[in-house]
Amino acid sequence: MTILAKTKTVYVCQSCGADSPKWMGRCSSCGEWNTYQEMRIQKETLAEEKKKDWKGQEPKHNESHPLPLDDIKIGRTSRFISGNQEFDRVLGGGIVPGSLILLGGNPGIGKSTLLLQLCSQMSQQDILYVSGEESEEQIKLRAERIAKHPLPKTFVFTEVNTSKVLKAAKKLMPSLIIIDSIQTMTSPYLESAPGTVSQIRECAADLQRFAKELNIPVILVGHITKEGHIAGPKVLEHIVDVVLQFEGDPNYNYRLLRVQKNRFGSTDEIGIYEMRGDGLAEVNNPSELFISQSETELSGSAIGVMLEGQRPVLVESQALVSPAVYGNPQRSTTGFDLRRLGMLLAVLEKRVGLSLAQNDVYLNIAGGLKIKDPGMDLSVVAAIMSSLEDTIVYQSDCFVGEVGLSGEIRAVTHIGQRVREADKLGFKRMFLAGSNMKGLKTEDLHIELIPVNKLTDLYDLMF
Ligand code: TYD
Ligand code: MG
Repeated sequence: MTILAKTKTVYVCQSCGADSPKWMGRCSSCGEWNTYQEMRIQKETLAEEKKKDWKGQEPKHNESHPLPLDDIKIGRTSRFISGNQEFDRVLGGGIVPGSLILLGGNPGIGKSTLLLQLCSQMSQQDILYVSGEESEEQIKLRAERIAKHPLPKTFVFTEVNTSKVLKAAKKLMPSLIIIDSIQTMTSPYLESAPGTVSQIRECAADLQRFAKELNIPVILVGHITKEGHIAGPKVLEHIVDVVLQFEGDPNYNYRLLRVQKNRFGSTDEIGIYEMRGDGLAEVNNPSELFISQSETELSGSAIGVMLEGQRPVLVESQALVSPAVYGNPQRSTTGFDLRRLGMLLAVLEKRVGLSLAQNDVYLNIAGGLKIKDPGMDLSVVAAIMSSLEDTIVYQSDCFVGEVGLSGEIRAVTHIGQRVREADKLGFKRMFLAGSNMKGLKTEDLHIELIPVNKLTDLYDLMF
């Protein structure tokens, strides 16, 4: 007689990962329709064999009991530096041993390149690079492009079975494990296909247990869905300690590394890289990327200081205002919210008295950045005024301020950092909201600060 109790059928929601012993049309936990799929798991063997899996013995149940906060030692969380400065900074000062880091990003953005580069920068330490997507040769070819020296301590393992991966890792005891990608991993104890919710959840949980018990950090690569979320269940983001997002416009070479979640540091840091023929170069002065280096000064362009995370970056706005020839005037933007442009144009029309209704207005943010910071309003407005009047804005001028509906210029956050960055890069004048001047330390600055309270003030000062 077969032992039926050994396999169990459950239904798992493909959207949120919830499970239920019976099929349901609508998931009771996330509310999605038609997401339940049947899964078979070998119930008893699962529990029994997993115990022996990479440990080779029964796990010790160390007695845990409540501890006074003062008695907890933090020796185990001392970070180690990978040598990739941007990466270390984004993590909050290096990699925390035993942490689980998820790196998400669109296909082809450079996730595998970044991680292989990390291997080359940590070449003194053993690293296990598990790849379910590429062959050994492909990885070798890429490593030859990136690394300037041999990597005898980077071990490449093209395996998708988590149990084999963890056994190999246990033997090697590397300083870092890289899993490229979590969607290709499968647990031998589940019958579902790789990439499904239950597989991702199971594999991530196994890796997390491994990381925590042996105090080895694990970096997981995660795919991104069409909507820009990390593919797989939301629980993945709950399990891991850090969620990093690698992004960039495929038409440009720069890449941004953002933190969405960090249990060991702030989520405001960003790292900036430039994709080159020989890998990703760290960018220490990002403003160079976003200001077009033209020799002659032209009308219609103005520089603003925006904040990416905690980092001030100088960015150029370019506007073209020209009489509308056919019917309705056109408004078009790249990198800036079209509705916000509409609002700024209405304010210029009504509060400054500029006639824009008969003009086409095109706005372009240099370098392919997407602006969300309202502090860029003032530079956009300056660029529009400059194009309309066909007058040059000096390249040594910059603008910071949010524009309100009554034409007032409002204060922005982190003004001190923005002013210092512009000063450091050699700008001579900054136009900013009068209310931002309060409490601003100006003693050691060379830049001249020009407070403006209304758009009409700016217009009178400039033209
Ligand atoms: P990759 O790291 O494979 O992306 P992901 O793992 O996120 O899918 O990056 C692939 C792209 O990077 C590819 O289009 C080529 C480009 N690239 C360079 O421009 N320079 C390089 O040195 C390398 C290795 C890749
Ligand atoms: Mg890849």
